[in-house]
Order: sequence, then C-alpha cells, then structure tokens
Amino acid sequence: MKILFASAEAYPLAKVGGLGDVAGSLPKALKALGHDVRIVLPRYGMIKDSLEDLARFPVDLGAAGEEAGLRMARIGGVPVYLVDKPDLYDRPKVYEYDDDGKRFGFFCKAILDMLPAADFWPDIIHVNDWHSALVPAFLRSKSAGDARFRRIGTVLTIHNLLHQGLFSRELFEWLGLPGDLWGPGGAEFYGQLNFMKAGIVSADFVNTVSPTYAREIQTAEFGERLDGLLRSRGSKLSGILNGIDYDVWNPAKDSFLTQKYSRSTLERKRSNKTALQKEASLREDAKAPLIGYVSRVTAQKGFDILIEALPKILDQGVQFVLLGTGEKKYEEPVSELARIRSDLMVWLKYDEALAHRIYAGSDFFLMPSKFEPCGLGQMISLRYGTIPIVRSTGGLADTVVDVTGDPSKGNGFAFREYTPDALLEAVLRAVGCYHVGRGWKSIVQRAMSTDLSWNASARQYVALYEKVRARVSAAT
Ligand code: ADP
Ligand code: GLC
Repeated sequence: MKILFASAEAYPLAKVGGLGDVAGSLPKALKALGHDVRIVLPRYGMIKDSLEDLARFPVDLGAAGEEAGLRMARIGGVPVYLVDKPDLYDRPKVYEYDDDGKRFGFFCKAILDMLPAADFWPDIIHVNDWHSALVPAFLRSKSAGDARFRRIGTVLTIHNLLHQGLFSRELFEWLGLPGDLWGPGGAEFYGQLNFMKAGIVSADFVNTVSPTYAREIQTAEFGERLDGLLRSRGSKLSGILNGIDYDVWNPAKDSFLTQKYSRSTLERKRSNKTALQKEASLREDAKAPLIGYVSRVTAQKGFDILIEALPKILDQGVQFVLLGTGEKKYEEPVSELARIRSDLMVWLKYDEALAHRIYAGSDFFLMPSKFEPCGLGQMISLRYGTIPIVRSTGGLADTVVDVTGDPSKGNGFAFREYTPDALLEAVLRAVGCYHVGRGWKSIVQRAMSTDLSWNASARQYVALYEKVRARVSAAT
C-alpha cells in the first residue's frame, strides 16, 4: 500500500512530545512490513541539513493562490516531504505562534496540492491530531473534479482531544474550505472553526492511541465536548496502542547512558543511578528510591495532585528528579520546593539526552496523569526496567499492570482516584515493595520484557488501512 503520513512533528527532525515519537517510528514499522510509506511535515527552522529540492507547487486557498517549495529529507529510510513556506514555518519552534491556524491550515491544503508535484498518489493519507485534520475536509472538494483524489482514503488519529485547533470563521473563509462544511454537522463548533471536528466528520476512519482512551473520549468526562459526535461514529472509531522505537529506546545500545545494560546485566543499571544522582546533586545513596518524571508540565500530566503530594513523597526518604517545561503555575511551585529540598531536582528545559539518563537512572517513573491518550513515558521506562507508577487512565491503564493487584503479571503500580492521597498511597506501595527487595528483580525483568514494540500495532494500522481502502474503492 501507498501511505502518506501527515504530522506536525516527527523525531528526529522535529519533536515536542509523543506525537513526534510516533510519527518518527510508526512509518518505519510500516515500511518494514513492506509498504511504501512517506511522511509529510512543514519545513521548520530547525530542519536544515541535507535537504533535496524537489519542486515548487501552487497551493490554492479561498483567498489567494500561494506557492510553496517541496523538499525532501529521510527518517530511517522513510522519505519525508517537507512543505517549504518560510514566512509560515522558518521559525525556531513547532507551535505556539499567533498564526498557528493559518500555518497548519495552509499545511493541510498543501498536503493535497503537492501530490501532483510529488507524483505520489497514496491509497491512504493518515492524518494526526488537529494540525493535519483538515486534509479529509479539503479532500472532499478536490475529489469532486479529479479521480486521482477520489481514490484516496483517509484515517485520522486523535493523539490528544484536548487540543482541537479552534479559530475564527475568517480563517475558514481564507482557507477556502467547502462552504457546506460550515455548520454544526461540519467544521463549525460554537461559532468557530474546529480543525479536529472537521477531521472527525470527514475522515473515512477515526482512531486514537489506546483502546481505553477510545472508550473514554465517548464520555462527557474525557470527550472535550465532542463525545456525542464521537459516539455517533460508533464502529468507525477504534483505539490502537502506540509502540516505541526500539532503536531509539534501547538500554543495551543507548549511547546517552553512562553504562549500557540489558535484562541479563541489570546490575549495570546501578551506575546510571549513581551518575544521575551526581548530575542532579542528590545524595549518592544506592538504597534511596529514586523517582524520575520527564514530562510536559501541564494539568494533563497530573501536576495539580503531584504538587500537593510531593513534600510527603520526599518525606518518605525518596529522591525525585523532574525534567520538563510547561505552565508557570506548576513550574514555579515545583522549582520553589526544589530550592528548599536537597532530595528534589527540577530541570525546566527540554533535553533529549538527559531524558534518556533519567529513564535509565531512576528506580521508578511517575505518571499521575489526569488523562492520557496513550503515554510513551511509561512505555520507555518499562523498557529501561524503571518501574512506572501511574494513574490508571487511557493508555496507562492499557500498559501498566499493578503489582499488588496481580503479583504474577504486574509490571508497575497504579492508582485510580485523581487525588494527592491516592498518588501518595501508590508511591508508598511501590517504595515498600522496593525496600522489601524480595521479588523486585523479577518485577524489573517483567517490565523489561513487556512488548512495547510497533510489531502488533503496525499490523493493526495496516488492517485498518485495508478496510478503508476497500470501502473507498467500493464507492468509486
Ligand atoms: P505527550 O505527548 O502527551 O507529551 P508522551 O508520554 O506521549 O506525552 O510523550 C512525551 C515524549 O516527550 C517522551 O518521549 C518524553 O521523553 C518526551 N519529553 C517530554 N518532555 C521532555 C523534556 N523536557 N525533555 C526531553 N524529552 C521530553
Ligand atoms: C499525545 C498524548 C500522549 C500520546 C502521544 C502520542 O501527546 O498526550 O498520551 O502518547 O500523543 O500518541
């Protein structure tokens, strides 16, 4: 099959969070299954090296005709089309600009308008999150006059329903979206243009990144006001668990580590802990349980309950390191606490290499998320034999089995209620188990043996693409 994978991020070219990991690894896994898969990304400021110039092509929007360059890079053998439009993308960051609506709206249209120039006619365009969710909506009008577009099927993966891409009606007009899409049954959402909603109503299939989140988003609690619409998609909504890139996340080959290790050389994990304690200016105590957390610092990631529970966690003789950036309202209290506690280190930055050292050097990885579509942090930490302590929601519920609840299969610790007390209780159970020592090694080995690869999930995507392709070809 020919698959075009559209994303706003793809590691290592551009990464902000888990979307970057997925877009940098799922296409490689699909290629390994024999498919012709290509990625498309905007050409941001940080993507500079060894780019091939392919063409220039017209991008036609409602307001005006524009032009963009088409360039190419590669990720592990997978071709990456780059939409080059310097006034929109040649900037240092991926997101958080005032004109993001225009930037990603343009990106969506350019993805279709570049196909003749690329001479690549995919069976499936797989779009991801709101940044590329207008593609299926634009495709409708493209298909009307051109059979090559009519044969393309679309899949939308929701990585995070919180971020929907809400903009003014003027943007809708500027982009030239099909007029009949303006309305509550289309891209309109309480008077605004909603990119994600446009994708949900227009894509041939909608899926999300874990089975539990697929169920959750159909409820008012997690549905972000789109639960009714999602319920109405019924059998055309599924959840496929993410995998992680075993080439990037492998403690036996990880060159960021002080000491590489594997399941059979677990004792070597210890020197990574000592090195991390040193780097974090913590007491170099092999016995002190060390909890790591690498995360965006936002409400989603559980900071409301973590900030309350943290002093009590530290009072248990636990050391804690946090690497992340995000909202001031959480960054400030945690860094304030770090100033007065010698058992807490907070790095407010983005640092890929340090993230690897935290995954390897910690005993535990905390993820007290309020909601979590999939979560990669707990998967990476399992692979590094670093025991996850998680709130049982979304993909966390699908990947972490509680040791107390199921001693023979457990690979981590989980709690349900979103409260500081429930979080503290789970940490106490985890730390208690660690101190007892008996059975600890087998928990760690079980964690490291959990299958977190793309093997099964990439096949599920292929099955989904096949289903969509069959439906589209029956209709054309
Ligand atoms: P989300 O995509 O919601 O942020 P995930 O758990 O799916 O959460 O993925 C987060 C990814 O981003 C992981 O690869 C994690 O290691 C990485 N990450 C998050 N914050 C940082 C940071 N400050 N420095 C380095 N890597 C980070
Ligand atoms: C989103 C979600 C996260 C998921 C990632 C990749 O950022 O917040 O849970 O793992 O996308 O799908």
